[in-house]
Amino acid sequence: HMDIMLAEYQGFCYGVKRAIKLAREQAGRDGFIATLGPIIHNPQIVKQLADEGIISIDSLDDITHGTIIIRSHGVGPSIYQAAEAKGLNIVDATCPHVKKAQMSAKALTDEGYSVVIIGERKHPEVKSIFEWSGQDAVVIETLEQAAQLQPIKRLGIVAQTTFSRVKFKQLVDVLLDKSNEVKVLRTICTATEQRQTAAEELAAKVDVMLVIGGKNSANTTRLAELCAQRCPTHHIETADELDDDWFYNIEKIGVTAGASTPDWLIREVYKKCKNMNKTCKVC
Ligand code: F3S
Repeated sequence: HMDIMLAEYQGFCYGVKRAIKLAREQAGRDGFIATLGPIIHNPQIVKQLADEGIISIDSLDDITHGTIIIRSHGVGPSIYQAAEAKGLNIVDATCPHVKKAQMSAKALTDEGYSVVIIGERKHPEVKSIFEWSGQDAVVIETLEQAAQLQPIKRLGIVAQTTFSRVKFKQLVDVLLDKSNEVKVLRTICTATEQRQTAAEELAAKVDVMLVIGGKNSANTTRLAELCAQRCPTHHIETADELDDDWFYNIEKIGVTAGASTPDWLIREVYKKCKNMNKTCKVC
């Protein structure tokens, strides 16, 4: 007999759910409708939206009229200005947590602080926060980078929403030595950590973990890495990838999914595992 257990927190976070809902509401509207970049890192959802007439474009150069949807990662002020100048209808699906990080960076800059963004330089969200700080911020991801920072008169710190809380604290600790006036705005959202902790707890209890989500999704890949430290783990995008061999002599299967993985993909995997259960020759 096989048990299939779902992680306590898994799948879509609030910001992603909201962004997809806002995008879907546009389906059927007259005119050209596009998201600026893929709405989330999940190929199945991107395809579904395309079937509903909402395509993904890489740049505002690719749109002359109609509706532009800003995804949950957010964008800098120049994109809003350019979209307005083109007369586009703007649907802003920036996650409110990201918006808060952007506005914090802007407020700190306006108040005369030199801004440090703790996060991954290449992440689109970090790029957007950077632009809201007047392109004047420094992005720091590692302890070495923090240590190398020159002394700063007034230092304002914000975080990429999905950054690790533990790492954030360590970096802030180093940065505290760089200035006598430090203002820290802890703009981290709890969704990522909740999913990671729940995945680790489940992986410690089961014989095999299935982690569902886009192969190009950073948060899903991270979940798979964490699980793999505790039990055999398979990162899959859809139920089609399930392999009977994984379940030989297995009693407990754990299932989790990244913040960009839709519920129906999780349900499909769950159902297929249940059916394997029935045809299983060992049990
Ligand atoms: Fe928003 Fe947090 Fe999700 S910042 S997009 S709710 S991971």
